[in-house]
Amino acid sequence: MRVLVAGATGVVGHPLVGALRARGHQVSALVREESRAGAPEADAVVAADALDRQALLSAVSAARPEVVVHQMSALRLLRDDPAGAFALTARLRTEGTANLVAAARAAGARRLVAQSIAFAAAPAGDPVLDEEAPLYVDAPDPGWAATVRAVAELERLVLGGGPDLAGAVLRYGTLYGAGTAYARDGGTGQRVLAGKLPLPEGGSGIMSFLHVEDAAGAAVAAVESDATGVFHVTDDDPAPAAQWLPLYARALGGPPPRTVPAAMAPRLLGWFMAHQLTAARGAANDRARAALGWKPLRPSWRDGLGGE
Ligand SMILES: NC(=O)c1ccc[n+]([C@@H]2O[C@H](COP(=O)([O-])OP(=O)(O)OC[C@H]3O[C@@H](n4cnc5c(N)ncnc54)[C@H](OP(=O)(O)O)[C@@H]3O)[C@@H](O)[C@H]2O)c1
Repeated sequence: MRVLVAGATGVVGHPLVGALRARGHQVSALVREESRAGAPEADAVVAADALDRQALLSAVSAARPEVVVHQMSALRLLRDDPAGAFALTARLRTEGTANLVAAARAAGARRLVAQSIAFAAAPAGDPVLDEEAPLYVDAPDPGWAATVRAVAELERLVLGGGPDLAGAVLRYGTLYGAGTAYARDGGTGQRVLAGKLPLPEGGSGIMSFLHVEDAAGAAVAAVESDATGVFHVTDDDPAPAAQWLPLYARALGGPPPRTVPAAMAPRLLGWFMAHQLTAARGAANDRARAALGWKPLRPSWRDGLGGE
């Protein structure tokens, strides 16, 4: 198939281009002009900024894709400019996705596969949730509420592309592996190594992890499938912070996390990390397994988190 990968220089997009080509697909990599040097080896490279609608329409039309994959975010900027990274990522999820849907339709694509996140659910009900759980659009932290609303809009746009453009949303778990925040040299890895990620007492927030190679593998499965809708793409081992954080610190070779009173966690860790470690729910992957025929090659974070 002719497949266009938007976000082809990214932590998932880059290996995805190679994985799709290994399956025999003809892959166009969409990159921004200034990122051409970082483009993966592909059958074609087309350049556009997703926030420039006309440029995106031209670039996508030139590739004539049957399937378009959306792996764009600005989260790479997180370490240097967190507010800017979230604001730009929200624009990519809303405006950028609307532009990509229009470009995919104009180019005659029949399918759109997009990256979303599996940790945007409201923290209510079971410890591990399925895709029907409501999103946390009314989170008490305005920044996280804005992020979740942008995620909801991305999903609405991808699933509402009309009868000719089938949509599949892959809600990735917390990514780990080379190039991610949880890699040894990533933002979270460095924080843990420096002993600056304490464990709020109880540590009962549940995390569902996903290795980047499994994220790319699920995108390949979604490209080749006809299934539509929203899918949690996570490993098989959702775990509370009280389990994963000490094991992660040990795997990195860092100090064991010190315990802090839960009430102090938002001030010490920031609202989002405190939420993840104390209240977040995990995400069950049964639907992706059944409908996409996908399963993680790394079923548990215990066998690799902190190892890269
Ligand atoms: N589920 C998760 O845990 C999760 C999800 C997302 C991200 N993250 C974290 O965030 C970090 C980055 O991951 P990522 O894959 O989202 O991002 P990434 O590796 O930075 O890739 C994002 C892609 O989007 C492209 N892009 C950005 N702005 C664009 C624009 N205006 N127009 C067209 N393309 C644009 C980038 O291209 P350029 O090279 O041109 O900038 C890049 O190819 C990692 O540390 C990861 O751990 C985690």
